Amino acid sequence: MTRIRTSSGELLIELQRSTGAPLHQQLESGIRARIRDGLLRAGSVMPSTRSFAEDLGLSRGVVVEAYQQLVAEGYLISRGGGYTEVAAVAAISAAGAGSMPDGEPRIDFRYSRPDVSQFPRAAWLRSMRRVLNETPDRTLAYLDGRGTGELRTALADYLNRVRGTAARPEHMLVCHGFAQGSRLLLKVLAAQGYRCLAVEDPSDDDLRRTAAEAGLTAVGVPVLEGGIDVDALERSGADVVLVTSAHQFPTGAVMSAETRAALVAWAARRDGLVIEDDYDAEFRYDREPVGAIQGLMPDRVAYAGTASKTLAPGLRLGWMILPPRLVEPMSRAKLMDDRGSPVFDQLAFADFVARGEFDRHLRRMRPRYRKLRDTLMERLAVRVPELVPTGISAGLHVLVMLPEGLTESAVQAAALERGLGVYGLAPYWVNPPGPGGFVFGYGGLTVSSVIEGVDLLAEAVAVARSV
Ligand SMILES: Cc1ncc(COP(=O)(O)O)c(C=O)c1O
Repeated sequence: MTRIRTSSGELLIELQRSTGAPLHQQLESGIRARIRDGLLRAGSVMPSTRSFAEDLGLSRGVVVEAYQQLVAEGYLISRGGGYTEVAAVAAISAAGAGSMPDGEPRIDFRYSRPDVSQFPRAAWLRSMRRVLNETPDRTLAYLDGRGTGELRTALADYLNRVRGTAARPEHMLVCHGFAQGSRLLLKVLAAQGYRCLAVEDPSDDDLRRTAAEAGLTAVGVPVLEGGIDVDALERSGADVVLVTSAHQFPTGAVMSAETRAALVAWAARRDGLVIEDDYDAEFRYDREPVGAIQGLMPDRVAYAGTASKTLAPGLRLGWMILPPRLVEPMSRAKLMDDRGSPVFDQLAFADFVARGEFDRHLRRMRPRYRKLRDTLMERLAVRVPELVPTGISAGLHVLVMLPEGLTESAVQAAALERGLGVYGLAPYWVNPPGPGGFVFGYGGLTVSSVIEGVDLLAEAVAVARSV
């Protein structure tokens, strides 16, 4: 068989010595990109390490290291006889390694993506088949605004067992995720005379828009290492506060016992309401997650959970445990909004939870996400130690703070040129500008793409520093 021999000149790899990015990594990225672009085809023979090193003015060891790394990653194959060949890797884009054909970054650390390829389709199908076979016709009529009794019961049992809540099925409401639950709740609260919503600073920016639409003023309250600053909350004059106590979004802090106690005392003193957004507590990797605040004061906490992290955001399944006085107005608001969530989805989910499939799925996913997180943390520590991760070992994201002299926009632009999507902290500050950082979502990535993504990030950081 005739082999295509590639010369180093054909590869057109340019090394940027001024950036400070290690040369073997620049070489690796260049070769990787050409393989992915289809410019280096499977079976082509790579230049010898000696000639490649000479042409690029490098020591041979640098080329050897780059080849070894690419062999380990499966891009190259080391053949007997001392030559190295391009492996059969699917070419991704003829336009360049930077982007997917639709303009999306090739490796994307965008937050909020669980690994939907792991959705438990077979178990879900069994649940769906069961409910389609067994559901009596009368269940298909218009619904109770709170959702089906089956799902409210299954979720109350699950949450009381796993999240330490004090839930009763009659106080639960099924909704289309946190997005709908929070929107309805803020409207109901505004109608009841609540005026000012305190949110954690930094926090998810969607909720501030939702508050404005409901006619509430939103104020930012700083997040400290142990969670929201309750003294500042007191001074803010807010009568309702939203917290992500088990795993603050986006800092990753967990609310300390002292802060929880202070928050409970604030709610009693102020006659205030706490909205507890328990969006990803199922994924704590180093120990059991802290229990929900709802269990401490069910009359003053509206607890919100979602299947968007645990199963898939496309399901649009969420739930709330409401203080008794909010159940009726919320049920009415839900019926006014959409007449209730689809009945078969609710019943299938109820069956899925009641049969232990939800627990089984979570047991399967935890080690996967943990591995991705550990890989990300280890690679960051080795390749870009100047970026400082924050928060506990949990969830599907990590916040990494930028050091002095680096800006989010410069790193982001250099990353995008390399086909890497990274997302800054800036939009999450309620009172900008706050310190710079990046929120890395890793839930939908693979171990090798996390590794490659951090390597590209290291290059981007080096370039951003030199600008
Ligand atoms: C802080 C936070 N809460 C809740 C959610 C879930 O929202 P939903 O249930 O509407 O999908 C997310 C999703 O990314 C989130 O980041």
